[in-house]
Parts: sequence; C-alpha cells; structure tokens
Amino acid sequence: MKVLFVSSEVYPFAKTGGLGDVAYALPKALCKEGVDCRVIMPKYSDIPEDYSGKMQYICNFNVSVGWRQQYCGLFLLQYEGVKYYFVDNEYYFKRNGLYGYYDDGERFAFFCRAVMESIFRMDDFRPDVIHCNDWQTGLIPVMFRDRYDKSPDLEHTKTVYTIHNLKYQGVFDPKLLEEICGLSYRYYAEDKLKYKDGMSFMKGGIVFADKVTTVSKTYSEEIKDAYFGEGLEGLMREKAYKLCGITNGIDFEQYNPLKDPYIACNFSDRSIGRKKTCKTDLQEEFGLPKNPDVPVIGLVTRLVRQKGIDLITCVMEEIIKMDLQFVVLGSGDRDYQDFFEYYASAYPGKVACYIGYSEKLANKIYAGSDMFIMPSQFEPCGISQMISMRYGSVPIVRETGGLKDTVIPYNEFDGTGNGFSFKNYNAHEMLNTIRYATEQYGKKDSWNKLVKNAMKTKNDWSSSAKKYIELYK
Ligand code: GLC
Repeated sequence: MKVLFVSSEVYPFAKTGGLGDVAYALPKALCKEGVDCRVIMPKYSDIPEDYSGKMQYICNFNVSVGWRQQYCGLFLLQYEGVKYYFVDNEYYFKRNGLYGYYDDGERFAFFCRAVMESIFRMDDFRPDVIHCNDWQTGLIPVMFRDRYDKSPDLEHTKTVYTIHNLKYQGVFDPKLLEEICGLSYRYYAEDKLKYKDGMSFMKGGIVFADKVTTVSKTYSEEIKDAYFGEGLEGLMREKAYKLCGITNGIDFEQYNPLKDPYIACNFSDRSIGRKKTCKTDLQEEFGLPKNPDVPVIGLVTRLVRQKGIDLITCVMEEIIKMDLQFVVLGSGDRDYQDFFEYYASAYPGKVACYIGYSEKLANKIYAGSDMFIMPSQFEPCGISQMISMRYGSVPIVRETGGLKDTVIPYNEFDGTGNGFSFKNYNAHEMLNTIRYATEQYGKKDSWNKLVKNAMKTKNDWSSSAKKYIELYK
C-alpha cells in the first residue's frame, strides 16, 4: 500500500502546532505497519540547515499558477526511515515563519498544484491514497477530481482529507479560482467551494475527497452542530456518510520520561517516586518555593481563546487563594501574556510563567507538575493532555473533542480513570474540578495509583495507525 501524506508542516523540519506532530508521527507509525508512506511539504527557508543541507535534489519543472508558470524544485530526504519530499520555490517559501502572509491563498494553491505535478516525478511511486491535511492542502482533492483522476497513472488513486481544526479554513477571494488555482469559476457554488462571499480551501477538501476524517470521534460529531461547525455544520451532516473520527496518538519514543534528556531525573510508571526530583527542579527553574507537598499545576499552550484561557482568567483570584503553585508556558494573545506576567509578578511564590516556547521547559513542566490543566472551549484532539499523562501529570480537562475521548474521569471509589474533567464551558465548574483534584492529591496512596493509571494509558500511535490502514483499504 502506497500513501502520500501531504502537510504544510512536519516536525522536526517546520512546525507551529499539533499538525506538525501528527505529520511526523503518523507516517512513521504507518511505515512500521508496512505501508510505504511518504510525506511531502514546502521547502521553507526556516527548515534548519541540519536537514536542508542533507536534502537530495531530484528535478525541477514548471507549475501553472493560473496563466503563469512558476519554477518548482523537488527535493528528497530520508529521515528515521521515512521518505520526505520538499517542494521548492523561494518566491513563495523563503520567508520568516510558515503562514500569515497576504498571499497565503496563492502560496498554498501553488503548493497543491506542485504536489499533484510532483507525483509524476517520483520515479517508482504512484500513491494508492493521497492523504491531505487541513486547509493548506484542501485544493488537492479538488484539483485531483478536476484534472488528474483519469490519468492512467492515478486512475485507482483515492483521496483522504483530515480536518485538524475546522476554525482555520483558508477562505480567499473567489477570483483566485481562475487566476491562481487554474480551476473554473463554476467551483464558486454552494455545493462546492463557496463559503459566504469567499472560497474555502477546506470546504473543497471536504466536498471532493473520497473520505473525510477528523482527529477524534467526539469532534467528528461536534462539528455537525452549529457551536463547533464554523458555518459548515450543514455540510458535515450532509457528508456524514464519508466522515469518521480517528483519535491521534503521540510518539512514545519522542515523549518518554524514561529517556528524556531535558528532565532532572528519568522515571517510568514503576518509579514515580523519582518525579519528586523533577518537581524540585521545576520549582527551582521557575523560582517557586521548593515545597514537595504543594500541588503544582502546569499549563503549556498557545495562549489563545480556543484553549479556554478565559476560564482561567475569570477565576484566577480564587485559584491563587488555594494551596497550590501554577506554572505557565506559552505565547499568543497579548492580553493573556500580560495577564500571566502580572500574576507571576504579583504572586511570585504561587504563579510563574515563561512567555515563549521551549521544548526543554515544556518537558520539565510535564515531568515536574502534579496536574496539567487544559480547559479548551473546543479541541479537535489535543496532544498536551496525552503528553502530560505519559509524564504522570494528571490532566484536568473540559469534556470536548479529543479531550473527552482520551481522559477518563477519576472515580475515587473504585480507583479507575486517568484524569479529571468537567462538562460545561464554565469557570466555576472548572474551579470546582481543580478543588476536587487538589483534595484527591492529599490522599497519597490513591493519588499515586491515579498517576500510574495516567502513565499506563496507551496513547501511542499503533492502534490509530491501524484504523487509518483500514480506512485506506
Ligand atoms: C490542531 C487541533 C488540535 C489537534 C492537532 C493535531 O492543532 O487544534 O486539537 O490535536 O490539530 O491533529
């Protein structure tokens, strides 16, 4: 089975969020299962020299962007047993960062066309499945149906489209259709790409792919409802026959407290006592009092609305009255950054924050905290709650999307469960859950059992990869 996995970001080459982690771990897991899965992404100038220096040039050709022709180079890199292709065009991809430019519509329309044209230049490789991800690749299923599905090389090929976050759809001026995408204006219709007064790349992927998936079962249901559907709930209901949810995993080698070089002391579910050293180290790193008995709550996230930061700001005064420490790592909206910086300076013994991102500090938080909070307003899958479980930091989450599917609420009477959860997007419901969790933290024996439950949760990719293989079949 041959699969071409298309993504606008892939760890460790270029990543801004969870998509990058999935695009790294899933193809790797598929290859382990015997699938010939190759990955293709843009050759951004941000890709570290360590990798770009080792890429092998394959060929170059012209790609049509509307009536114009643009240069396209194709490069290849083998990394950890997986083949990665890179689409090169410096005009589009030699910039700082990955997205956020005025011409993103054109950049990714070019990328989609370039991917289709590249397939014919991958000597021995004609994919059975082209697996596209998020809005940046949404035009591929459209272009495929428009022009390529009759080509003798690809007549048996099918397309899969995965929604990682319906909120970011890639909506652009419909005049791009003919001028840039090489698609007729007839695609600007309600049952095709039209979205309000624009055209949505994501809608194109959903309408034209053979199968559509989202990254958890709960999210695949939620998006049929207006609260989560971002204006596409009707479409999601109509396409329910080809829609399913497959929950992401995390790479158990990438996230492994037994081997992690960043943390003060390595441990596993059989040596959770050693987490204490990580906790002291975390407290020291963040300038908090080194108290082994006070519960430490971690938060590692993009500081944006989706992540439920509003719930925290709403009850922060009550949170700091409790006997706990709160450690924050992330960046994002200015208001939220200022908020946490203010609390860290006003309550230095209780709250600490690092505005920015650091893999090392993130892992120190996963390993050194006792609980991990993730009160998202919506969460297609979520990765941090799975990492925190792997490191024995018990998650406190809102029951939405993948959070609901991966966190089983703790039952203090029979000792089952691997975290804490609350249902409504309500700050006091969250606060009560934090209170309940810190209460349980006081009962040492049962708490240690809960930490072990969390650590034993099998959130690795193997079972999800098998589900994708079934879907491809
Ligand atoms: C997006 C979603 C997140 C998901 C990730 C990977 O970033 O917001 O919930 O885990 O994609 O699928």
